[in-house]
Amino acid sequence: MSGGGVGEVITSESPDFKPGDIVVSDYVGWQPFTTIPASSAKLVAATDAPVEASLSFLGMPGLTAYFALLKTGDPKEGETVLISAASGGVGQIAGQIARIKGLDPVAVAGTDAKLEWCKQLGYRECVNHRTSADLVADVAAACPNGVDLFIDNTAGPIHDAAMLNLNTFGRVVVVGTVALADRFDQPDIGLRHLRKTLIARARIEGFLLDDHESEFETAKADLLSWFKQGLFETREDVIEGIEAVPYAFVRMMNGENFGKQLVKL
Ligand SMILES: NC(=O)c1ccc[n+]([C@@H]2O[C@H](COP(=O)([O-])OP(=O)(O)OC[C@H]3O[C@@H](n4cnc5c(N)ncnc54)[C@H](OP(=O)(O)O)[C@@H]3O)[C@@H](O)[C@H]2O)c1
Repeated sequence: MSGGGVGEVITSESPDFKPGDIVVSDYVGWQPFTTIPASSAKLVAATDAPVEASLSFLGMPGLTAYFALLKTGDPKEGETVLISAASGGVGQIAGQIARIKGLDPVAVAGTDAKLEWCKQLGYRECVNHRTSADLVADVAAACPNGVDLFIDNTAGPIHDAAMLNLNTFGRVVVVGTVALADRFDQPDIGLRHLRKTLIARARIEGFLLDDHESEFETAKADLLSWFKQGLFETREDVIEGIEAVPYAFVRMMNGENFGKQLVKL
């Protein structure tokens, strides 16, 4: 089964890699040893960041946060940015980039411990979507000036609450739909927002990281520079052992992961 990962080269037939090199690839699979085409591997440059950073803030989640927020989101200074799954792999970086760029980040997450950490990262306000009795009202209270930009990592009821608080010319970047994960082949749930989209002249845009590959190195340089300046911190949730893989997946779906969910083999 394929899976993205980071690992150490033991032997290589490619002149581009030598034993001891650290590489990332989307094709390492769920196994402690693997053979991969050299064309699928990318060398991980030695930085001050820990090796797992290549799967978190210097990898897919960090790059997703960077481009979804700064490029597709087209933010203007001072705007309110609502971010769901705010303490997760993507969300924790998106919130901190928003703070660095002078935006007003507001978090939605599923436990009070996660929300407390989001505040430490610089989110101004937080909403617990798992305990909220009225998500629309709670988002409104957390965003008194409305929502200018919504980084939607979840879809579902949080999406509806964001839409109902969206400002004129608001933007919604659809990054993830985890709330729909057990019903991808069924009709969508929740409200329809066409009238709201029309009145607000809102823009709702799907996001896929692969579209931004030509700019990955620029983004990584920015992320690393912010990290080295101490401007942001990250948290990964590492579980050990191949037998822990199903458990790691299910706890992520239940919102029990705290930071990017990784498995060390
Ligand atoms: N489009 C792309 O190119 C791209 C690239 C990378 C990632 N993604 C997507 O980005 C999202 C975040 O990825 P990640 O790796 O950083 O994961 P993550 O945020 O670390 O983990 C997922 C989080 O989603 C929340 N969640 C789970 N089920 C939910 C539900 N039914 N309703 C609302 N929230 C729920 C949980 O947090 P709480 O409940 O505690 O909030 C859980 O911790 C995912 O949807 C992923 O598929 C997309």
